[in-house]
Amino acid sequence: MNNMINRLVTLSARPDQNAGSHSQLSPDSFKIIERPVPELGPGEVLLANMYLSLDPYMAAYSFSVQALQDAVEARVVARVVASDNADLAVGDVVWGFFGWELYTVLPATLQDHKGYDVRPNRIDPATWPKDAPLSYAVSLLGMPGLTAYVGIVDIGKAQAGETVYISSAAGPLGQVAGQIAKQRGCYVVGSAGSDDKVDFVLSLGYDAAFNYKTTPDGIQAALETHCPKGIDVYFDNVGGETLDAVFMVMNKGARLALCGMISTYQSDDPYRLGNMFMAVRKTATMTGFVIYDHFPQKMPAYISQMGQWLAEGKIRYQDATVEGLDNLPEAFIAMLSGQHGLGKCVIALPEAAKP
Ligand SMILES: NC(=O)c1ccc[n+]([C@@H]2O[C@H](COP(=O)([O-])OP(=O)(O)OC[C@H]3O[C@@H](n4cnc5c(N)ncnc54)[C@H](OP(=O)(O)O)[C@@H]3O)[C@@H](O)[C@H]2O)c1
Repeated sequence: MNNMINRLVTLSARPDQNAGSHSQLSPDSFKIIERPVPELGPGEVLLANMYLSLDPYMAAYSFSVQALQDAVEARVVARVVASDNADLAVGDVVWGFFGWELYTVLPATLQDHKGYDVRPNRIDPATWPKDAPLSYAVSLLGMPGLTAYVGIVDIGKAQAGETVYISSAAGPLGQVAGQIAKQRGCYVVGSAGSDDKVDFVLSLGYDAAFNYKTTPDGIQAALETHCPKGIDVYFDNVGGETLDAVFMVMNKGARLALCGMISTYQSDDPYRLGNMFMAVRKTATMTGFVIYDHFPQKMPAYISQMGQWLAEGKIRYQDATVEGLDNLPEAFIAMLSGQHGLGKCVIALPEAAKP
């Protein structure tokens, strides 16, 4: 017996989407339980989890399909602490879809909970961008960063001289999307839910930004002020009223990259769009996209490009790291409502502190 005890964050009950009960998510929606870490079987690998990712899509989708007895499935960066498999050695660091828990046992197939082989996700110190924290594997150099890149470059097709507007600009995607649009020579405008966040996105190089909660004459008026030449590309993280306002301010041929609609995730009564007819008049293109369709094929080139921008000092980024599994439920609720710190919400576990 190894006598190790795992601690897992599980759901207390399955949210009932029909009742709009996502709006009732609270720290009590989660339960922390303990369970012995099993002995490793042939070919198995024991991971000590270092960084757990907290993402809005979990509230919108994955809690509805999550098994209640298991740790909530999430992207995780982990270190190998015991291995019966020649392909992963003690000390190797990998990321994958593991769980909100201290330890994860990988099966002999080395597949994560979604069935992806984790071997391509081993972080190679020789190619990992210099000085980039390992937590970036679930933020800047992981899914959120790639989503921002695909939304601006492949979906939005942002061109030099165009105006790009990004909602939830201080979030993990918004931070990166705005800076990538700046790299492409665009005029970049963002919105966020506090004055501190507005200052933060301006410090990242956004040309203009506003607090959508306090703008005196509404979001459309704020967009007309801050986007004097109209909007050519909209990177939509929030949907609802903001998306409706964009229809009125966009230019002919505008491209709308529909990435997320967080304003609806916790609402029992989703906003009904009233201005969509403008998509006809402005011959706009609205494209929803899901990053799984671009992953993993675009990831190596993205990491290489982002690594170069980091080395050249062209990208600034920060995670909002919270320490300890016990603080995860509150951090998740705060992340959804915008009350957490600036940047990507990541839980650091004790293993993360080890050299
Ligand atoms: N399509 C894909 O494949 C894909 C992949 C990843 C993420 N996403 C989506 O992309 C969006 C951004 O994700 P992210 O990880 O960068 O998280 P995020 O933007 O940081 O999301 C959390 C933030 O959303 C803002 N927010 C909450 N309620 C809002 C409302 N009613 N109206 C406007 N803003 C609101 C809050 O910031 P404020 O304080 O500024 O309000 C909060 O901090 C999310 O909708 C997510 O689901 C999509």
